[in-house]
Amino acid sequence: MADVTITNTSTGAKATCPAGSNFREVAQAQDLDVAFGCESGICSTCLIQIKSGQANIAPKTEQEEFTLDARGVAPDDMNTRLGCQCQINGDVEFEPGM
Ligand code: FES
Repeated sequence: MADVTITNTSTGAKATCPAGSNFREVAQAQDLDVAFGCESGICSTCLIQIKSGQANIAPKTEQEEFTLDARGVAPDDMNTRLGCQCQINGDVEFEPGM
């Protein structure tokens, strides 16, 4: 699979990984400056705002939808995601937080 680039636009940190990688695993291995807690889609510590490449992230899991709903995120909001739940299939730019 082709490599893709994940960019933290708030710090300029970049990571390269194979398409299909888990955002959390890449962010932790390559220091993208994202905080994680439960790592299973429950605590929402890993909230990120997608600045570009929304279509390059796999659809929300049921767990992600549940947790985002509890935080008041609209179901059709494709910019707010849980980093620990995202599969990255193409280039993405993001900022940590809500
Ligand atoms: S680290 Fe808890 S929801 Fe992602």
